[in-house]
Amino acid sequence: MSAAPERVVVLISGRGSNMRTLIERSHDPAMGYQVAGVISDQAQAAGLEVAADLGVPARALAPGKGAPRTEYDDKLAAAIDEYAPSLVALAGFMRILSPPFVARYPGRILNIHPSLLPKYPGLDTHRRVLEAHERQHGATVHFVTDELDGGPLIIQGRIQVEADDDAASLEARVHVLEHRIYPLAVRWYCTGRLRYGAGRAWLDGKALADPVQYDGIEVH
Ligand code: GRF
Repeated sequence: MSAAPERVVVLISGRGSNMRTLIERSHDPAMGYQVAGVISDQAQAAGLEVAADLGVPARALAPGKGAPRTEYDDKLAAAIDEYAPSLVALAGFMRILSPPFVARYPGRILNIHPSLLPKYPGLDTHRRVLEAHERQHGATVHFVTDELDGGPLIIQGRIQVEADDDAASLEARVHVLEHRIYPLAVRWYCTGRLRYGAGRAWLDGKALADPVQYDGIEVH
């Protein structure tokens, strides 16, 4: 690929294993992107050091106590815009973003969520999946809209829930899938194959009626 890589900003709150994978995979020029910066809303997020060790500018931007959400979101947007990204990738970013923030980046924010959306939006997905005796679980990459975990779905990876699974074992297997599907979705976006339009995700010019199902084969 000869075109300059698209710039991606990754937002984190914690350990940043998806962020790490996004950075590591970006070293392959075929992915079409570079991680221009990492921002955490938590000063102590382990992922900040991981990003810095990988040579990516990383900074904490902690919300002031009691400050209105929109005030933080304005600061966050200003920090993001310094990197002039094409795409913002949420990777374990634990804040709900305000509608004005989302509107600043129309169709340009992706998120990864640890469930087979639209099932189990929100927190504690692994425990809730076990309590509901689900037989399948997984992870989903989707576009971010004003609806929490509700934007158009792009790609999903699935696992079987086994009788001896607990929340930790589910989380570990779901993470493996996350590290496969998130770089793929970012690649699709940054090579111009994936777009958001009319409330849908479009891949290769076709609106996705259902998310792409990742089958373990690295599709390009
Ligand atoms: C992942 O499970 C992701 O789906 C969710 O938050 C977690 C982040 O994990 N949104 P990590 O920080 O990337 O390891």
